[in-house]
Amino acid sequence: MASLTEVLREAVAAGVWTQAVLSQPRKGSGAVADKVKIKPVLLKNGLHYQFSHYTGTKVLHENVAPEQAAGRAEELLLSLYKQGLLQTSDADYHILFNKQGEAAVLKKKPTRPSVELAHNRKKRHVLEEGTAVPFLVELGVMNAQGKVLAAKYDKFRQINRFLEMIDDIVPYLPQSRTVRIVDFGCGKSYLTFALYYYLRERRGLDLHVVGLDLKQDVISHCNDLAERLGYGRLSFKVGDISRYDETDEADMVVTLHACDTATDAALEKAVRWNAQVILSVPCCQHELFGQVRNDALSPLLAHGILKERFASLVTDAARAQLLELLGYRTQVLEFIDMEHTPKNLLIRAVKENGQEAKRQSEDERNGPAADAKAVRAAAEAYRTFAGSLGIAPYLERALADKLAPLLGSGGHGSQPGDDK
Ligand SMILES: C[S@@+](CC[C@H](N)C(=O)[O-])C[C@H]1O[C@@H](n2cnc3c(N)ncnc32)[C@H](O)[C@@H]1O
Repeated sequence: MASLTEVLREAVAAGVWTQAVLSQPRKGSGAVADKVKIKPVLLKNGLHYQFSHYTGTKVLHENVAPEQAAGRAEELLLSLYKQGLLQTSDADYHILFNKQGEAAVLKKKPTRPSVELAHNRKKRHVLEEGTAVPFLVELGVMNAQGKVLAAKYDKFRQINRFLEMIDDIVPYLPQSRTVRIVDFGCGKSYLTFALYYYLRERRGLDLHVVGLDLKQDVISHCNDLAERLGYGRLSFKVGDISRYDETDEADMVVTLHACDTATDAALEKAVRWNAQVILSVPCCQHELFGQVRNDALSPLLAHGILKERFASLVTDAARAQLLELLGYRTQVLEFIDMEHTPKNLLIRAVKENGQEAKRQSEDERNGPAADAKAVRAAAEAYRTFAGSLGIAPYLERALADKLAPLLGSGGHGSQPGDDK
């Protein structure tokens, strides 16, 4: 029988590792995550092994170089987890520990023979270079032969990354009626056109998409372009997000780099409309910079740049937790690589109810706070978080009526805009 070390190292060396799951945290070991999944991923700097640490609804990713992957997995198993399943294209290895802490490795038939890497690679290019896509040609990202212009390569990657995320949420959208999508702060709308093209032309969904922005000239330009492309169910309107009242229903709300509290105004609409899916990439989170205070954090808050970054993260953490409290299974993901823009976080929230919840994979089914106890704990976590930092964010104030039963009404009762 091969040893644990041999099995792990051999799987990496032979490139046959498809997935591993480490579970059953050892009592008193200090393990924070409930389980860790390990998959090969192809990053820009080559093959890595992604360690995804799952704690409740939160996932923390750690990318490890191949030469360290087996060692890291072994270290986690020996110190924190008492059970492991390594799946390779040749075999499954069940890893168990006896009372003396000795590992036994049982070899079984493979249940995950295909390497996930191929899937990752495919997903990274929803739109392939070399095939002219009309909206990309019109937007000047590709030429008529499908070649991506050098200056637009980052945009092309961003669009592809966005479409991967769109692809992931398709199962949560209605499949048998018109899907209503609103993109708030759409600007030049590269991603709105991408979304429409992908869902309508590639996935065949019946769609109605509206893009909203403050800028009249940009909106006229987008409407002209939609007409030229024959995108009949895509239209653009001029207006302020917080005052948008042309509908009171949407299945999906998108905000991409909508400035500061414009993001919150969009999230508020999404919640009130009961939108099934929210995809939000926040931008310039200034609001809490003027609010956040905590004596213990004074070395951090004394420096403007650190305070600014901290306040941004606090803003997005508060948004994610509030959405979770309001019944959304919420994840904060990396939108595009850090080197392209610091505005690289995406809040992805999916309404937890009925059929939609049933479609979730087993891995993701832990949240959001489904029972009363979990809701109370999530509310308490938010109250402690906001209270310790002295913050009352826009979203909390805007949705005070919905949050009052959860957070109590004694907190931060002012309305958005009061502090302006
Ligand atoms: C940085 S741009 C992003 C554009 C586009 N979503 C993208 O990601 O490429 C932000 C856009 O949000 C719009 N915006 C900001 N506040 C808004 C508001 N309150 N209502 C509507 N649009 C708003 C701006 O006019 C601007 O076009």
